[in-house]
Amino acid sequence: MRLGILIMAAGKGTRLKSKRAKVLHEIGGKPLLRHVIAAAAQVVPARDILVIVGHQAEAVEAAVRDTGVRFVVQEKQRGTGHAIQCAERETRAWDMLIVLSGDVPLLRAETIVALRDFHLHERAAMTILSADALNPFGYGRVIRCEPGAPAVAAIVEQKALTPALRKVREINSGIYAFRRRTLYENIGRLRADNAQKELYLTDMARLLADAGKRVVAIEAAQPTEVLGANTIAEMMDLDREMRMAQARRLMAAGVTIFRPDTVTIDVGVEVGPDTVIEPFVQLLGQTKIGSDCRIRSYSVLESATLGDRVEVRHSCVIAESRIDKGALIGPFAHLRPGCHISDAAHIGNFVETKNTRLGQGAKANHLTYLGDAEVGAGTNIGAGTITCNYDGVNKHTTAIGKRVFVGSHSALVAPLMIGEGAYVGAGSVITDDVPAGALALGRARQVNKPQWAKNRRAQKEVRKPGSTA
Ligand code: UD1
Ligand code: CA
Repeated sequence: MRLGILIMAAGKGTRLKSKRAKVLHEIGGKPLLRHVIAAAAQVVPARDILVIVGHQAEAVEAAVRDTGVRFVVQEKQRGTGHAIQCAERETRAWDMLIVLSGDVPLLRAETIVALRDFHLHERAAMTILSADALNPFGYGRVIRCEPGAPAVAAIVEQKALTPALRKVREINSGIYAFRRRTLYENIGRLRADNAQKELYLTDMARLLADAGKRVVAIEAAQPTEVLGANTIAEMMDLDREMRMAQARRLMAAGVTIFRPDTVTIDVGVEVGPDTVIEPFVQLLGQTKIGSDCRIRSYSVLESATLGDRVEVRHSCVIAESRIDKGALIGPFAHLRPGCHISDAAHIGNFVETKNTRLGQGAKANHLTYLGDAEVGAGTNIGAGTITCNYDGVNKHTTAIGKRVFVGSHSALVAPLMIGEGAYVGAGSVITDDVPAGALALGRARQVNKPQWAKNRRAQKEVRKPGSTA
């Protein structure tokens, strides 16, 4: 028995009222279609997954091409039945087909396997994955031949429901298994005689049942996993569901998440045990966090890698950067892509870094910009230090050695090297390299004029009589 998985992803998603194709909308930080492919890829190799694309086909293919799946184009979207018709040639190698919907993203691989096994066990021509829905409105309903029996007589779409059938709570998930030969022998008999004037794949249930083929349904263990996303509001319900599941997985692995309903964690983010995540934190992309860290409120980490015992204080923005163990970041720090903050280093409030490496134990604690810089271990960057890395045309680097002391309010004009152990006087504008161990002063010498204030007052007194004249 050779099994292939077809994913229907050609539709526009009219009900979303969006320029973007439905399957490219994101939940849990990834497009709907990626979630569906990820589940399918746990059941069959990627080359046995065929995605039916149509609306914005190029963008949809580009978004998932790296998964190794194959594509077939449904030029005009004439319904779910028509989508499957379009895939006839490309599915020839398979005896059994599982059909998934690109807009049902919470489906788990275990459920696909249960559907496959039930279909084979029942020797069915078509098996429908159904669910007992609390609110079945909008879904097609599964009409059983007899209550409680596996056999199905038909699927009836919402718009075609008679008042008696509106009470049926068993919904069609839009996910099916088919004996391929029987499917394609009969699919030409679908008719577009319905509200949408489309070819409905759901009509295959009645068609096959009437032809004496075995059509059955199996209920999903968790009704939430077959929820579809047709509107933005439904999409956000699924997003919450998926992120909550992710938060629960992390908590089960020893992570403390205060007020998990306020925290946004993308699927795939990793966090070590005994780390504490405070309310309103966002952990996005490929973020990886070690153990015993604390991420304080309002911080947003995007594809950041943190070692153990890192503290990120309130309201930090950290993107594509690495922070090693015991480092302290924030509050109100901005780490732009390409930073590497070594063990026990400190980045304090209102400090911005970009493409910068801070050595072990180095500190930049207040009001600083470090761009394209290399800062040696144990170096202290005084408050208000600015690396002037841009000359209006090119970016230049600043290399600062170990145990350097940069006085407050210094401007370091790159390209520049400051040798190990050197000192920079506060308020300096440093344009030339500083040798190791030297003191660099780049500012006007201060002049004090003794008695100046008293003399000025006296001068004014002298002028006064003249002014009345
Ligand atoms: C479909 C089912 C409905 C079921 C529901 C479950 C039909 C007629 N109805 O309704 O019984 O309860 O799913 O979520 O199938 N697509 C194509 N090509 C097309 C049309 C659609 O590839 O020509 C794709 C869409 O991109 C989408 C999927 O098929 O991923 C389902 O289409 P959609 O229009 O959302 O069907 P529903 O109205 O939700
Ligand atoms: Ca749908």
